[in-house]
Amino acid sequence: MLKTLKTPGDTSWFIHDRFGMFIHWGLYSQPARHEWVRHNEEIPTDVYDAKYFKRFDPDLYDPNAWAAAASDAGMKYFVITTKHHEGFCLWDTKYTDYNATNTAAGRDLLKPMVKAFRERGMHAGFYYSLLDWHHPHYVIDPHIGPYRNAKNRAELNKGRDQKKYAEYMYNQTRELLTKYGKIDILWYDFSYPKPDGLGKGKADWQSEKLYKLIRKLQPNIILDDRLDLPGGWDVKTPEQYQPREWMRVNGQPVVWEGCQTLSGSWGYHRDESTWKSVDQLVQMLIDTVSKGGNLLLNVGPTGRGELDYRALKCLSGMGEWMKRHARSIYGCTQAPAEFVPPTDHRFTYNPKTKRLYVHSFAWPFKYLHLDGLGDKVEYAQLLNDASEIPLKPTDWTFEHMSHQNAGKNTLTLTLPTVKPNVTVPVIELFMK
Ligand code: GLC
Repeated sequence: MLKTLKTPGDTSWFIHDRFGMFIHWGLYSQPARHEWVRHNEEIPTDVYDAKYFKRFDPDLYDPNAWAAAASDAGMKYFVITTKHHEGFCLWDTKYTDYNATNTAAGRDLLKPMVKAFRERGMHAGFYYSLLDWHHPHYVIDPHIGPYRNAKNRAELNKGRDQKKYAEYMYNQTRELLTKYGKIDILWYDFSYPKPDGLGKGKADWQSEKLYKLIRKLQPNIILDDRLDLPGGWDVKTPEQYQPREWMRVNGQPVVWEGCQTLSGSWGYHRDESTWKSVDQLVQMLIDTVSKGGNLLLNVGPTGRGELDYRALKCLSGMGEWMKRHARSIYGCTQAPAEFVPPTDHRFTYNPKTKRLYVHSFAWPFKYLHLDGLGDKVEYAQLLNDASEIPLKPTDWTFEHMSHQNAGKNTLTLTLPTVKPNVTVPVIELFMK
């Protein structure tokens, strides 16, 4: 099995739990057409605030319902956007008035969320945007932000001091890491250093200073890789794609977590219609774990504070599968290299229990041939109903029924003709 780079963050629970909920919630849930709406439509601050800050009223917000939906789906941790690029803060921060307490919500929205998820035994993570389209000292650059096409950038930047913004982030990070108990993940987003020098990276965020503060306040917190600090992170975060194999940095396998949307947008998007099916989502989770990674799957609650009905449908579909198959996810990782899965199948492996899980994305025609496993398996069963799968084919008496398996130490499983009534069937192999 692959050994990953040792970093200060405590990833032991993380690589066991494998599956978390990402939550993107902010003022952008009201325009309901992507969390980048302010950038995409170049909406000026006063217009944005008059429409959305003034009207933010999540009267149906019930973090217990969110936590229940996550936990029923089999998720074990959550990461919430405490502040996204728009700059709005969900918590009672003393460093800006641009926060939930000054909306109709009238209270810190983060605190009850952390409590609700913790009560269900889930780990808590904070996302924090490095970009900030609202802060008066964030230096406006041509790459990203509501004013990227502005001709008068110099004028707009008059009096802006990026150092003051970095100090603001420093102070807010201290708040987030001291007011809410032990936080398990800190998820900064994102750096974009550019060759023209007009992007932003570690010097603009004062990443090194931040890093020291983080490690002082929460030494074992898991820190993501978007602070532009080579070597100063615990988890690599590929976004919206499936890596083709276990992620490596400088040739060395690393702890990684893919973040994915249900429908293409992170923030609530009413009219987005490219929702992934439960089949795709379950396969995505399996594929991720088969490559040694975690899946952070996103929901974008509505402006009234509820999870969208389509998101709930996806989550309950995943929960239905997880109820019977979590054993092939929790505590599992990539299988030892000598075991190669057949076409359309994925392996995961639990090194503690020594069980190998065969996930079938396309149900085979009666036989499943597993090369190299001929003498290694003690017992096999379908995971969904614990029904035995015979290890030796029963009807191989005649030449015209043979399988050309000679010399490959093949294990041939005899499967039921009818695909088990689950999204992705799993065969559990008890290794010798
Ligand atoms: C991106 C986007 C953002 C989203 C994030 C999640 O960097 O800017 O909207 O929050 O990815 O990974």
